[in-house]
Amino acid sequence: MPRILTGIQSSGEPHLGNVLGAMLPAIEMSKRNESFFFIADLHALTTIKDREVLKTNTLTTAAAWLACGLNTETNILYKQSDIPQVTELMWYLNCLTPYPMLANAHSFKDKAKQLSDVNAGLFTYPVLMASDIILYDAEIVPVGKDQTQHLEITRDIANKFNYLFGNTFIIPEAKTDNTNMIIPGTDGRKMSKSYNNTINIFADEKVLKKQIMGIVTDSKNLEDPKDPKTCNIFQLYKLVASDAQTQNLISKYQKGGYGYGHAKNELFELIINKYEKIRNKFKILMKDPKHVEIQLQKGAEKAQEVANSVLKKVKSNLGLV
Ligand code: ADP
Ligand code: TRP
Repeated sequence: MPRILTGIQSSGEPHLGNVLGAMLPAIEMSKRNESFFFIADLHALTTIKDREVLKTNTLTTAAAWLACGLNTETNILYKQSDIPQVTELMWYLNCLTPYPMLANAHSFKDKAKQLSDVNAGLFTYPVLMASDIILYDAEIVPVGKDQTQHLEITRDIANKFNYLFGNTFIIPEAKTDNTNMIIPGTDGRKMSKSYNNTINIFADEKVLKKQIMGIVTDSKNLEDPKDPKTCNIFQLYKLVASDAQTQNLISKYQKGGYGYGHAKNELFELIINKYEKIRNKFKILMKDPKHVEIQLQKGAEKAQEVANSVLKKVKSNLGLV
């Protein structure tokens, strides 16, 4: 049974793209494999510089995992910063990581162009990510396509360590098949917190409705027949709806006399109904941060055991002990 591990940065409230593209597929896999899921709050520090924002994001990300059905009896959910061994290992890995490999990373180059605060944490982001993965003997890492280069860097560093200091780490593999699906945002681009085009399925009805009403459409009149293939509302609807519901909406579009406002209302109702249980569970969890914290602590204790045993081997192989 291979060990699966993945992390999500606590950089904001998880949206429909995160839930359908990353969380639900990973939870599905966790039913068959022993899985490690963590909230990458140390990575979030590269961009978030506000104590309350970081705390809230960490809570919402943990609550979202739990609300989506992650079973913490059979899996391990923890906060990255609760296992300080990860930053210790990062230092050892830093000393093996060639400078040009980090300087050429796409994600660093993109961020360096976009952000005004280009800090050393952004630069060494992939080394912390490598440490996140190999500290727990992870074998399979489900990630979005944007993360595959980080996985290549992880493999390079782990291989170099094994070559220089003897077999120490398992070489992990990225699994991108389940996350290949790109969920479009309200403007038709990839849904992303950084594009401000998200549908926050955990938000209050009012916020959710406003986001759905903001979906960009063409300017066809109510009477006109419409093309579902080019419509952003339909693209989202079909990801959530059953086949019968989708067919029904296609007929309405093609017949005409059915406006985009109607379609938006229908999408809103669908999301509210489909995710009613998840939304309620999330609300209950957000009112009980203690309970969420206890789940994270329980996960941290289990994660710590693996981290300690791997780190002991690392230090001995390095000649530190
Ligand atoms: P964001 O772009 O909103 O900042 P993150 O980079 O934090 O999202 O992504 C967290 C996880 O969710 C990653 O595994 C990523 O691949 C997945 N994900 C994010 N947006 C989408 C999307 N629009 N479609 C599919 N998966 C997504
Ligand atoms: N960099 C990942 C992202 O932005 C989050 C992450 C941090 C991660 N450490 C990880 C993902 C380890 C997988 C494994 O989505």
